Amino acid sequence: MKNEFIYKRKSVREFKDIQVPMEAIQEMIKEATQAPSGKNAQNWHFVVVRNKEKIEKMAEAVYEKGRELSNNLDEKTASNFMKMLKYYTVFKNAPTVVMIFSSKYESSGKDILMLNGASNEEVEKLESVKPGVQNIGAAMENLLLSAANMGYGGCYMTGPAFASDKMCEVIAFNKEGYNFSCLTPIGIPLKENINSPKRKSLDEVITIIE
Ligand SMILES: Cc1cc2nc3c(=O)[nH]c(=O)nc-3n(C[C@H](O)[C@H](O)[C@H](O)COP(=O)(O)O)c2cc1C
Repeated sequence: MKNEFIYKRKSVREFKDIQVPMEAIQEMIKEATQAPSGKNAQNWHFVVVRNKEKIEKMAEAVYEKGRELSNNLDEKTASNFMKMLKYYTVFKNAPTVVMIFSSKYESSGKDILMLNGASNEEVEKLESVKPGVQNIGAAMENLLLSAANMGYGGCYMTGPAFASDKMCEVIAFNKEGYNFSCLTPIGIPLKENINSPKRKSLDEVITIIE
């Protein structure tokens, strides 16, 4: 009954210094693209970075941008943000980083709501659904499950997004109409037996309507 492959995926933030074969990365991305997407839009583009120096420079760019931003904050907010920075750069020692870029995807029904004179609140509620972002999340989860099932580790990351322009400068990547959405390091986990944080109880997260 239990689907073991689901439980194999845990956020991995430290990696062995061994490269992942490109065939394995290609299979992970192929499986990522089997994810559902609204109107089958497949509004994703995958960028695979396999250059150690560039990966380190991307992490440095996140760190530097973070430091720059924290200069404009009060001491306490700056210190809390700086503590979080280490979680936004955990890809720094990975042999491969897969970034997902997304193109624009409008919520279905928005035009119709507006033509019907919907209030701003109604339009905002519809837009909060963000189907275009959900497409990317579905693809990223597939990619992480695929990686874990092959014995590799990864970590879904949106934390470095505030430095996405700088990361793109490092890798000289620019694709018209596509913006950075998330990334994952991919590599062989440094440690075995990583534990995921505890989940809420099912009672807390389920409402059953009969
Ligand atoms: C949208 C999203 C963004 C995340 N961003 C980061 C991140 O920037 N840095 C990080 O270390 N972990 C990040 N995580 C990983 C979460 O911290 C992790 O999934 C959560 O604590 C549950 O742990 P598990 O993945 O081991 O089950 C992110 C996860 C998601 C889904």
